[in-house]
Amino acid sequence: MDKLDKRALYDGVLRDLDAVLAGIADDVTAMATCACLLHERLTYASWTGFYRVVAPELLRVGPYQGPLGCLEIPFDRGVCGAAARSRSTQLVPDVHGFPGHIACDAAARSEIVVPICDGAGELIAVLDVDSHQPAAFDEDDRAGLERIAGRLCAYLASGHG
Ligand code: SME
Repeated sequence: MDKLDKRALYDGVLRDLDAVLAGIADDVTAMATCACLLHERLTYASWTGFYRVVAPELLRVGPYQGPLGCLEIPFDRGVCGAAARSRSTQLVPDVHGFPGHIACDAAARSEIVVPICDGAGELIAVLDVDSHQPAAFDEDDRAGLERIAGRLCAYLASGHG
């Protein structure tokens, strides 16, 4: 897939997200809808979904598509933990080269994790997309997923964004 296609793909996901979620403010609905739209469009994704901050320094799996994900991830573990800790996107072309990567799916080869913060800058979740292909994600995925993470705040309950 070339760069132009990925940009068009994320434009489409964003457009559909806005069309489907207009008028709704519900965390589960927003995350489930977003995971579905992304997973159906990103043909290179093997797992697409959310880990939510449920306690200090602790993520728990939220709405997702794909094989069974691990249920809880402390902030000091894995790619998701690194994204939560640093509040910055983790783009990992080779998960075997990432110290502490958590192999929920032994076939996973690359991964991108984007933090989701509310309007006050508080981390509320991370958006994790995994692939069975090595180096499946690039800067267009980073830009597209960061746009989606930013937009998602508009559809979360209780004043996020
Ligand atoms: N690989 C992730 C764990 C979550 S899943 O693969 C669904 C990580 O290292 O954070």
